[in-house]
Amino acid sequence: MGIEACKFIEFPIVHDPRGNLTFVESNRHIPFDIKRVYYLYDVPGGAERGGHGHKSLHQVIIAMSGSFDVILNDGSRSHRYHLNRSYYGLYVAPMMWREIDNFSSGSVCMVLASEHYDETDYFREYQEFIQAAKHKSTVK
Ligand code: TYD
Repeated sequence: MGIEACKFIEFPIVHDPRGNLTFVESNRHIPFDIKRVYYLYDVPGGAERGGHGHKSLHQVIIAMSGSFDVILNDGSRSHRYHLNRSYYGLYVAPMMWREIDNFSSGSVCMVLASEHYDETDYFREYQEFIQAAKHKSTVK
């Protein structure tokens, strides 16, 4: 799975003069069972998060409030996505190097994840990720 697998997903909106409502359901709007939810908030101006990759984790990233950029890199191609609406999620396939920056003040970045937290699923070193990504693309 390369970077072309990473796409924006538009969630349903129930428009209402009292305020809009959006919902997301596992295996309907989200292409996996959601086992974990985490969120980044109180991010200081200029901060960068998430310089890492995952071996098998599937994720959907949502800007619940404010905006930020997600930069994905599959080992050969890289793309910057701007997230600024809570009714869009960015699907992040496994084996992507992921960085998040350009946080607006008060922004909240929520991540829906396919697995419980597991440090052994991380690539913390970019070189290690690149080697694994290159190996994967040659043994396909
Ligand atoms: P990390 O994924 O490295 O965040 P970022 O790449 O955005 O800086 O996580 C930061 C710390 O939080 C790390 O020590 C692991 C811990 N953590 C959990 O305990 N559970 C979780 O679900 C997540 C995402 C992180």
